[in-house]
Amino acid sequence: MRKVCIAGNWKMNMTPSAGAAFAAELAKAVKDASVRVVVAPPFVTIGSVVKALENSSIEVGAQNMSDQVSGAFTGEISPEMLKDAGVTIVILGHSERRAIYGETDDFINRKVKLALSHDLDVILCVGETLEEREGGKLEEVLKRQIVEGLKDVSADSMENIIVAYEPVWAIGTGKTATPDDANSAHAFIRNEIEKLYGKSVAESLIIQYGGSVKPSNVKDLMAMEHIDGALVGGASLTVEQFAPIVRYNK
Ligand code: 13P
Repeated sequence: MRKVCIAGNWKMNMTPSAGAAFAAELAKAVKDASVRVVVAPPFVTIGSVVKALENSSIEVGAQNMSDQVSGAFTGEISPEMLKDAGVTIVILGHSERRAIYGETDDFINRKVKLALSHDLDVILCVGETLEEREGGKLEEVLKRQIVEGLKDVSADSMENIIVAYEPVWAIGTGKTATPDDANSAHAFIRNEIEKLYGKSVAESLIIQYGGSVKPSNVKDLMAMEHIDGALVGGASLTVEQFAPIVRYNK
């Protein structure tokens, strides 16, 4: 059985004080959750959120990480800093990092391996743009992002990896992939993982869907065979919306 993981990517929202207040309220609202719950605040907000969630099972993630261990890398945050701050998992390869900041598969792969070597779990984001989808390139793009993003990652390390399928055209647009479209992309990803690592790794892999997940569509998405969780942006910023997503099965 795959353990469902619902994660909130706060993106560039929530100051340290607002994040702490929000996290405390969220913890109360999802106390009975039976799934793995993660919130990923901006770097400066991580400390106050970790503190606010001290007595909660909600994990704190990061939205990005350096590909270097330490040294003269102005503005960067290392895996050791994240670990020490209480982070357990890091989102890597988000489409906003790829598109706005030019992150390549090779660069993302270096971060994935560095995170794993510091005992951080990874949410590796993959997904196609509308142009790529309409140009018939969906599978080619997903395959490249999976194969290159996971290059030299061992089968044993795969239990520390979650893949998030986030079609770029569905992010922040209100357009959600239909459950069937999302499920078939997830099935394709699982099959690629099987080719790389074999059936048992592929069967255990958690694949999250991301892109305009809301309380109103989460149940239909989560009912699909290959959808094992959600990576939520906008709707992770209010308790009114995020709590029912986390409690989708209650
Ligand atoms: P939205 O839920 O706002 O579409 O964002 C999805 C996302 O990018 C999560 O990482």
